[in-house]
Amino acid sequence: MEFTTKITSFSLLFLSLIIPTLTTATCSTAVCRNGDPITRFPFRLKSHQPQSCGYDKGFDLTCGNNNGVNRTTIRLPFSGNFTIEMIDYAAQEILLADPNNCLPKRILTLNLTSTPFDGVYTRRFTFFSCPTSGYLRFGRFNPITCLSDENSTVFATALKDLG
Ligand SMILES: *[C@@H]1O[C@H](CO)[C@@H](O)[C@H](O)[C@H]1NC(C)=O
Ligand SMILES: *[C@@H]1O[C@H](CO)[C@@H](O)[C@H](O)[C@H]1NC(C)=O
Ligand SMILES: *[C@@H]1O[C@H](CO)[C@@H](O)[C@H](O)[C@H]1NC(C)=O
Ligand SMILES: *[C@@H]1O[C@H](CO)[C@@H](O)[C@H](O)[C@H]1NC(C)=O
Repeated sequence: MEFTTKITSFSLLFLSLIIPTLTTATCSTAVCRNGDPITRFPFRLKSHQPQSCGYDKGFDLTCGNNNGVNRTTIRLPFSGNFTIEMIDYAAQEILLADPNNCLPKRILTLNLTSTPFDGVYTRRFTFFSCPTSGYLRFGRFNPITCLSDENSTVFATALKDLG
């Protein structure tokens, strides 16, 4: 059960902003589509708000096409595009998801260098790739299906679970 929770937490990634939150310009808010986060300083929705409405390029967002649907998207210089699920301006946190629904894969290569963001939860995970025939021996762990294929099944666990 505990592990199920951890896998679930893999589907969304919290990052915190490291920036001042005062705005100088008068800018109207923007939204990519209904239900998406409202974009305002320090963020800027490109092609909806002038450049002066964002703190700097690190906060530029786009209405990225995600399987035919426009979703609020951020490009991290060394990690690629993520969908923004939520922006908490008061807590200075954003919640990211993988447009292709495989956040574990993205976390393996996540590199926040040159971004104004920091991870909110830091936890060391170990990923295992096992021959699929050995699957049952790992029955108490949930496989990460988007990283697994017919020949190998991938699991992740926090180190303390291995006892
Ligand atoms: C990432 O987003 C940018 C801006 O929307 C877009 O130009 C680029 O093609 C996207 N890259 C990928 C790999 O989807
Ligand atoms: C997505 O955004 C582009 C550019 O903003 C727009 O031309 C297009 O109609 C939008 N597509 C949908 C499905 O909303
Ligand atoms: C992140 O990417 C930069 C630029 O490629 C590189 O210099 C740095 O070592 C990377 N950091 C990690 C933790 O991989
Ligand atoms: C699984 O293994 C078979 C036999 O070695 C190979 O032909 C096949 O391409 C593999 N499948 C994947 C998804 O790697």
